[in-house]
Amino acid sequence: MKTYLVTGGAGFIGSNFILYMMKKYKKDIRIINVDILTYAGNLENLKSVEAMDNYKFMKVDICDKEAVLNIFNTYDIDRVIHFAAESHVDRSIRNPEVFVNTNVLGTLNLLNAAKLSWETEDGYLPDKKYIQVSTDEVYGALEGEEGFFYETTPLDPHSPYSASKASADLLVKSYVDTYHFPANITRCSNNYGPYQFPEKLIPLMINNALNGKKLPVYGTGMNVRDWLYVDDHCEAIYLVAEKGRIGEVYNIGGHNEKKNIEIVTMIIDTLLEMLPKEDSRRELISHDLITYVEDRKGHDFRYAIAPDKIKEELGWEPVTPFSQGIKLTIAWYLENMDWMERVTKGEYQNYYKTMYSI
Ligand code: NAD
Ligand code: DAU
Repeated sequence: MKTYLVTGGAGFIGSNFILYMMKKYKKDIRIINVDILTYAGNLENLKSVEAMDNYKFMKVDICDKEAVLNIFNTYDIDRVIHFAAESHVDRSIRNPEVFVNTNVLGTLNLLNAAKLSWETEDGYLPDKKYIQVSTDEVYGALEGEEGFFYETTPLDPHSPYSASKASADLLVKSYVDTYHFPANITRCSNNYGPYQFPEKLIPLMINNALNGKKLPVYGTGMNVRDWLYVDDHCEAIYLVAEKGRIGEVYNIGGHNEKKNIEIVTMIIDTLLEMLPKEDSRRELISHDLITYVEDRKGHDFRYAIAPDKIKEELGWEPVTPFSQGIKLTIAWYLENMDWMERVTKGEYQNYYKTMYSI
């Protein structure tokens, strides 16, 4: 049985990863979830696994050297899946410092603890691996309608968030190059699915529409993102962790480019299609809610991943078409409006007022 140390396992992708792994591979793995529970971390997401004897939660800051080393000294960790991060671009534009602390220094701390715990006189203990969960945003932006990000595309981050993720990637690369540290880097496009915090485009639009609130589209709405259903990302990470060639970078993408305005329009249409005829919220939802607002500073125009390498080497391909994934996602939010109400209480209201003046 392998022991996975999952950092940031109470966040959006981390909690989906834990749920996915516990469902699909539960007999083969033990998971230790390390998370400091920022505004984005929510243990409620993990209710269905918390009593399982092969799952353990530890409230630890990845920047805390002693606490992180202690985990490696206590448990025989086979895989590190490093999700923990500050993840929202808009927040990074307002407050870059915490992004450097968590995303850069936290990663360095984790690398050092894993290296110390795994190294031997002539290399590393067998079958150990560290996975840096990174993002396509480290490649910068594609300016026109054509072209893709490849693993060989030069790093050219623009936001403080993507700069902090690129810095972390370079640290991981330096550990591979200098110390032959057993690691992979994955770079994924935009994820969507259950448990995503409503600061991100899709859950924010779903929640606003259901409450008859304006739908704030940045700039012209023509910016393009490449959307991937979160479970498809989880499977890709697992494959890289188990079968990826050490030292390699793998791009993960959905082959699903959409303009932001298309996404918002689809959400409105899908909500109207899915809500029962007698549901009074139908009256609140219309295309008139779409409101163009000031653009994000430094807004990257287009992201698109070429996931050819992971397909060729590991046989991974996205399996959830967007038309299905968006319905699964909207259905989840409709069934979990109490989750949405809890996470949008309190601090979220201040965040929303500061971010959006509409
Ligand atoms: P998220 O913001 O939903 O979750 C981040 C988690 O990290 C939270 O649970 C938070 O409490 C935890 N965390 C933050 N600081 C911590 C610290 N100092 N110590 C321990 N835990 C801490 O993020 P997400 O959207 O799930 O993204 C997860 C990872 O995937 C990030 O590294 C992100 O850069 C990367 N990624 C995200 C996407 C996406 O579309 N969401 C796409 C590609 C890559
Ligand atoms: O590409 C991967 C990245 O995707 C991840 O690394 C990040 O962690 C994740 O947050 C996401 O970044 P984006 O900035 O692309 O996601 P976000 O949901 O914030 O925005 C998606 C697009 O929608 C972007 O072009 C900005 C736009 N947008 C966003 C919000 C929140 C709006 O037009 N209005 C909004 O209110």
